[in-house]
Amino acid sequence: MEKILVKNSLQLRGTVRISGAKNAALPILAAAILGTEDIILEDVPELKDVEIMTEVLKSLGSDVKKIGKNKLIINSKNLNSYVTKYELMSKMRASFLVMGPLLGRLGKTVNSLPGGCNIGSRPIDLHLKGFEALGAVIENNVGDITATAEELIGNKLYLDFPSVGATENIIMAAVLAKGETVIENAAMEPEIVDLANFLRKMGANITGAGTSSIKIKGVAELKGCTHQIIPDRIEAGTFMVAAAITGGDVLVENVISSHMKPIIAKLKETGCDVIEDDENESIRVIGKDVLKAISIKTLPYPGFPTDMQAQFLALMTQLHGNNVAIETVFENRFMHADELNRMNADISVEGKEAIVSGPKRLKGTKVRATDLRAGAALILAGLVAEGDTEISDIYHIDRGYEDIESKFRNLGARIERVDRD
Ligand code: EPZ
Repeated sequence: MEKILVKNSLQLRGTVRISGAKNAALPILAAAILGTEDIILEDVPELKDVEIMTEVLKSLGSDVKKIGKNKLIINSKNLNSYVTKYELMSKMRASFLVMGPLLGRLGKTVNSLPGGCNIGSRPIDLHLKGFEALGAVIENNVGDITATAEELIGNKLYLDFPSVGATENIIMAAVLAKGETVIENAAMEPEIVDLANFLRKMGANITGAGTSSIKIKGVAELKGCTHQIIPDRIEAGTFMVAAAITGGDVLVENVISSHMKPIIAKLKETGCDVIEDDENESIRVIGKDVLKAISIKTLPYPGFPTDMQAQFLALMTQLHGNNVAIETVFENRFMHADELNRMNADISVEGKEAIVSGPKRLKGTKVRATDLRAGAALILAGLVAEGDTEISDIYHIDRGYEDIESKFRNLGARIERVDRD
């Protein structure tokens, strides 16, 4: 079984170029279903999750071809199915993002109910409520969700929680609906803005993306376009933490610093130097020998991103004092605390709160990635631990990080993928 082996690697130095954002590429790939002409996507990260989404599109009749590194051409003229196969849905819950576009394009969609995952039950009630508000009829037949609509009619709806996926799915269902849709309490993540920009290039009429109130005026059809995926703010944050935790000096390139405000603010609070260069779309992070303890609380954007909580928990093990991390977005996203404690961290978790006392000398051992970001956190911990850290279940990591070992190796990290039972 493949594992990632990390040896003690302090003071990482050098430059790392960030890939396109996984969480922008996935909804944009799903949205490609809505068009009937060629769509060219650039800076598409080459990840397991992107592979699965392209498989889903092909299973529905879309034509998807790779035409270069990180470059795809998609044509959904011959879309011929509205049923997403269980074996694909079960591999990646984000496949659920094809429901909105299928409903919009074909007036029907059948998906197996996406499972939960390690970080939470991941319900989809808000997605379905949005579809019903647009006139769809939802049936739940033993694990399969069917949504049907003779005609989708625009409507005004309020999201009980600013769900990223629900906001994206409803936008994609509304772009071809009759009339105007307004989504109140919408998610404001940069990936929503990228999806809206992509759809507008196809001819959709969307305003307010990036705010809590998004207005979509239905149009008759959507054309082809070319679109470059925005940089991955979570991958960028992961490498910025790597500089901080190893006391290094790393230049992160291809990053939009306005997407990184909470991460920049928190790293500065520890005492790191963080130098933003908007002109060159880069951020330099210089770690220090003594870094101060901090507190974080995850919130929907523009709050501190839940997808950076695990990486910061690893960093907190090296900060001087008592750190507090509060996870408000997912109900079970502290499993990496147990793995870090196996490395001699001192983390106590009580409900939504984790207390991390530092600094602690971490010790390398065998650990398990419990989700995508937890896997990244274990690599960060392995960089500062004494001895070897062997990470299993690394398929989680491959879902969301492109070429992660070579990116870390280029910064001086001693990290390799090994085949071990
Ligand atoms: C997206 O997941 C991201 N995934 C997640 O990234 C990210 O952690 C999350 O947004 C929050 O930022 C993709 O974009 C593919 P949500 P999503 O709907 O859309 C509850 C990663 O590591 N909720 O905003 O599933 C839900 O249970 C992944 O890259 C409902 O209750 O997140 C959760 O507690 C992990 N009902 C909260 O909202 C619903 O209908 C946030 O979920 C939908 C969500």
